[in-house]
Amino acid sequence: MKKKLLIIIAVAMIITCTVVAFAACGGNASIEAIQEKGVLNIATSANFPPFENTDESGAIIGWDIDIAHKLAEYMGVKLNILNMDFDSVLAAVSSGRADIGMAGISNNASRDEVVDFSDNVFDSTQVIIVRNSDTSINGPMDLAGKTIGSQRGTVGQLLAQMSEDWAYDFLENGDPDLNSPILGEPKNEIGYDTGALAVQALVDGKVDAVILDRFPAEAITANYDGQVKILETPVFEDAYAFAVAEGNTGLAEWINEAIAKMKEDGFWDSNMEKWFGSAEV
Ligand code: ARG
Repeated sequence: MKKKLLIIIAVAMIITCTVVAFAACGGNASIEAIQEKGVLNIATSANFPPFENTDESGAIIGWDIDIAHKLAEYMGVKLNILNMDFDSVLAAVSSGRADIGMAGISNNASRDEVVDFSDNVFDSTQVIIVRNSDTSINGPMDLAGKTIGSQRGTVGQLLAQMSEDWAYDFLENGDPDLNSPILGEPKNEIGYDTGALAVQALVDGKVDAVILDRFPAEAITANYDGQVKILETPVFEDAYAFAVAEGNTGLAEWINEAIAKMKEDGFWDSNMEKWFGSAEV
């Protein structure tokens, strides 16, 4: 009898320790744990100018990245940037491989089930890019029956796929003036590794339109000198936030306080001016 009890206690202890160990190395590193490690790991996808991109030397730069450096500075730790495909960023955060996801990540209820978000940090829209010569697509409603390119795993692709969590949710709750979603109508869609590759596919005639975030769309189409254009009416409105592991409210709150501090000490505006030419965009 006694032996049985001891076995039960031993098994219970093993389970508890495993759970505790997972919590510690899963995605729930507290600010103290990060400071003890001496390094802040962020996950990004450096193909999204001006938020994150690589320069000629291969260094990762951008609006998110400068904020990441500032967060590491406030914490007193080194910054380590993990660069990956966009569709791996949220998993890197929820598994604890990265402490924070900083990748122009649009915040919505379905993603909030997988990770937790800081306050929103940037308002964006999803725009449509078409070939300059195309007169058949003038707004979201003209996308019916067309082939749409986007970056894999992004809002652009989720809209093209008529995702319930994004497109339908927007139909119900979004701004009716955007009358967007396109959508409702059957269409083909192709996901690419990056927004730039989707725009290249558009130029090559492989897709009829690309759905991409406004500022990356402007930066990328600038390389195509009159071959493509961004339509005036966006498809969708969204806002970016920084992602932490689900339940890591301590870190999310710390980030919100850090953002407030950056706004107070002038860093926020100067970072906006550096990457967008103005504190307000
Ligand atoms: N805002 C879009 C989304 O959250 C696209 C983000 C792409 N980010 C990147 N770094 N490539 O789905």
